[in-house]
Amino acid sequence: MDQASTLLSAIRKSIARFMKELAAHLKYLPWEVNLYLRGHGPCFGIFTHLTLEEKLLLYKLTRKFDHNSVIVEIGSYLGASTTFLAAAAKENKSQVYCVDTWMNEGMTEGTRDTYQEFISNTTLYQQQIYPLRGRSEDIAKEFDNQIDLLFLDGDHSYKSCRADVESWLPKVKNGGIIILHDYGWSEGVQKVVRDMVKPREKKPGLEMSNLYWTRVKAGS
Ligand SMILES: C[S@@+](CC[C@H](N)C(=O)[O-])C[C@H]1O[C@@H](n2cnc3c(N)ncnc32)[C@H](O)[C@@H]1O
Repeated sequence: MDQASTLLSAIRKSIARFMKELAAHLKYLPWEVNLYLRGHGPCFGIFTHLTLEEKLLLYKLTRKFDHNSVIVEIGSYLGASTTFLAAAAKENKSQVYCVDTWMNEGMTEGTRDTYQEFISNTTLYQQQIYPLRGRSEDIAKEFDNQIDLLFLDGDHSYKSCRADVESWLPKVKNGGIIILHDYGWSEGVQKVVRDMVKPREKKPGLEMSNLYWTRVKAGS
């Protein structure tokens, strides 16, 4: 390929990517505007690998619950996903328990303390958020509440994801929701869903962007 055709191909790819992103934004624009009007605009500015579609799904699913619901997030990082859960929790007066070492466990960028960044990014929702600092399996042993919605976004290796599901899924109520992030690319997460989550689901779950979510039956 000569230089001109390489350049042309790169331009075509950029335009295609731009059009795809624009289409996604237009699709979710009404929801974005809705959240801005409700005062949740700052949620959109926090760094994360979650897509807009995924962030909005967290908000929409949390809104389905009644007052005093219990939302648990494993892997809060800088607080992006937390704020979308908490934005809905603020509206239905629920609580969001955030479990993380805040030491960047398993993250490619390496170990660092992210706790102060999390706290400052989530101040708008400090009435709804309960940070539980430590390793997921240890925190689970002390956690006595029954869970309405569980969002798993910690370490995505098979071993850790399995440990998270073993520790936390038995605490999810009948009809509660479990959401697992990184389902799209982590074979470990896919295997955990196949072996441990699907046997407990009420009806086939949904795959979206890079996550999987479903409602579960009572069980241990
Ligand atoms: C992918 S990030 C979470 C991203 C976040 N949900 C967001 O919205 O951007 C994973 C987080 O899980 C935490 N983590 C990983 N393994 C953990 C474990 N075993 N216990 C507690 N936290 C863990 C890391 O410290 C990191 O902050």
